Amino acid sequence: MRGFNRGGSKFLVFIALLVVLSIEHRVSSARQGKQFVRQQNTNTPTSPLLKDKGAEFPGQRIPRLMREVYQAKTVLSAGSDNTIFNVLDYGAKGDGATDDTKAFEAAWVDTCKVEASTMMIPSGSVFLVKPISFSGPNCEPNIVFQLDGKIIAPTNAQAWGSGLLQWLEFTKLQGITVRGKGIIDGQGSVWWTKKLPTNDPNEDIKLTSNSTKLVSNNTSLADLVSVEAKGKLPHTKPTALRFYGSTGVTVTGITIQNSQQTHLKFDDCTVVQVFGISVASPGDSPNTDGIHLQNSQNVLIHNSNLACGDDCISIQTGCSGIFIHDVICGPGHGISIGSLGKDNSRACVSNITVRDIKMHDTENGVRIKTWQGGSGSVQGVMFANIQVSEVQHPIIIDQFYCDGEKCNNHTSAVGISAITFQNITGTYTKSPVHFACSDTMPCTGVTLNSIELTATQEIEPFCWQTFGKLQTETIPPVNCLKAGNKPNYNRC
Ligand SMILES: *[C@@H]1O[C@H](CO)[C@@H](O)[C@H](O)[C@H]1NC(C)=O
Ligand SMILES: *[C@@H]1O[C@H](CO)[C@@H](O)[C@H](O)[C@H]1NC(C)=O
Ligand SMILES: *[C@@H]1O[C@H](CO)[C@@H](O)[C@H](O)[C@H]1NC(C)=O
Ligand SMILES: *[C@@H]1O[C@H](CO)[C@@H](O)[C@H](O)[C@H]1NC(C)=O
Ligand SMILES: *[C@@H]1O[C@H](CO)[C@@H](O)[C@H](O)[C@H]1NC(C)=O
Ligand SMILES: *[C@@H]1O[C@H](CO)[C@@H](O)[C@H](O)[C@H]1NC(C)=O
Repeated sequence: MRGFNRGGSKFLVFIALLVVLSIEHRVSSARQGKQFVRQQNTNTPTSPLLKDKGAEFPGQRIPRLMREVYQAKTVLSAGSDNTIFNVLDYGAKGDGATDDTKAFEAAWVDTCKVEASTMMIPSGSVFLVKPISFSGPNCEPNIVFQLDGKIIAPTNAQAWGSGLLQWLEFTKLQGITVRGKGIIDGQGSVWWTKKLPTNDPNEDIKLTSNSTKLVSNNTSLADLVSVEAKGKLPHTKPTALRFYGSTGVTVTGITIQNSQQTHLKFDDCTVVQVFGISVASPGDSPNTDGIHLQNSQNVLIHNSNLACGDDCISIQTGCSGIFIHDVICGPGHGISIGSLGKDNSRACVSNITVRDIKMHDTENGVRIKTWQGGSGSVQGVMFANIQVSEVQHPIIIDQFYCDGEKCNNHTSAVGISAITFQNITGTYTKSPVHFACSDTMPCTGVTLNSIELTATQEIEPFCWQTFGKLQTETIPPVNCLKAGNKPNYNRC
């Protein structure tokens, strides 16, 4: 229990910061409704932590708010205790074959008891770890998970039981930092292949050298995965790294690759920072989102490189105060808000800023997608300085999202309002602008500014029930926005 008192006061500072944050939020709330203010582009300092975009955003003032999030980390002095619990000291082998789960669990039990201590996963080793939860709520705050080595997931079915939502989970913690130059590898290809057609020997042979024998025996791919796994992998695919119910979360430096499904997920978290990370999975790996946000507030994601098989970043219901900048996305499906409102659910998303993004070879650029039949709203979104290259659909709002074969028509919808697309330039391959809004719940306050999208074969922008305005001329010309602003009667 070394450093308990010192740490205790640090935690108070942390709580104080949270209070400041929420006050700031309320102050900025009071200023909503102001006209759009053109952003001033100040010279950006290079330090990622102190980087302040210095801009005002439409009714949001996210940068001011986020400055507090930026500073939260330095104030917290995570890992300052210098008490280090190295997994090798708990019997981890780090040979990539031995199951090191028990060693990780034992190291966590001790780390959890010491405020601002460090659990060390050293470089030069590969740790095979089964699904594991690093959980509070009885852990001391400000723990660092120092990841310099590599952690790999099991590919055999027994490890996954009847299906788990995550592989590595941090839950109910106050002040948790995962940092280092290490790698988290989900070894997801055994899960991805389940989507492939069966009886495809060419695919089968890739699995393992032991499998070739079976392939020549006309074994279906599903059987083959089962044989390799000595059982069937469950239908539910896990997220590689998930944070749940935590406050003051930082993830920096690490690489997450080949996830079974989503790479990094935050659910029910506040004051989150992600920077300097990489996500690396093939563009054709199914459902491997990069970063997934849900029910989380005051989240800052920047200076990261995301390559995956689904959305690079996906923002789901319950998110507000999200600031994303200086991210490279591709391959992948772009940066999305949604899908929202599935199965007639209520969704609330507000105050989202996505800026200074480079996208290449992605399916979509920036997108808002909602299902018919939902309720709630998406409000106050700024997509700015997005550079696209060979992107199929750079700008999308779709209130008719449907990933199944047939979706019923409904009159209700998740409302969409105060959405700005500014300085979005580059090349597209399928359609430059696609706004498909609901007849009963049209999109309102959609603003386009400095859009310049070109293609070898130019396609007309499409709008349906989309109210808004152009602040500048656009390339290609967008003549389909409806003038005026319908009252937004869907609120959260
Ligand atoms: C979003 O920002 C607006 C304006 O600053 C504010 O009124 C609103 O309460 C904020 N919403 C959330 C959920 O923080
Ligand atoms: C092949 O199977 C043998 C016996 O089950 C096992 O020892 C070996 O590690 C396997 N090799 C591979 C590449 O999976
Ligand atoms: C594979 O072939 C062998 C004979 O070549 C046969 O005994 C065995 O039942 C076959 N296995 C399957 C799964 O079809
Ligand atoms: C492989 O199995 C399928 C049915 O599982 C069968 O239709 C097909 O003829 C078989 N192919 C060979 C080469 O035995
Ligand atoms: C527009 O965005 C690009 C990046 O895509 C950036 O380099 C440029 O400075 C931006 N222009 C303005 C006027 O902000
Ligand atoms: C929904 O409405 C569209 C347009 O009116 C129509 O083409 C489509 O068939 C309808 N779908 C269902 C499932 O009723």
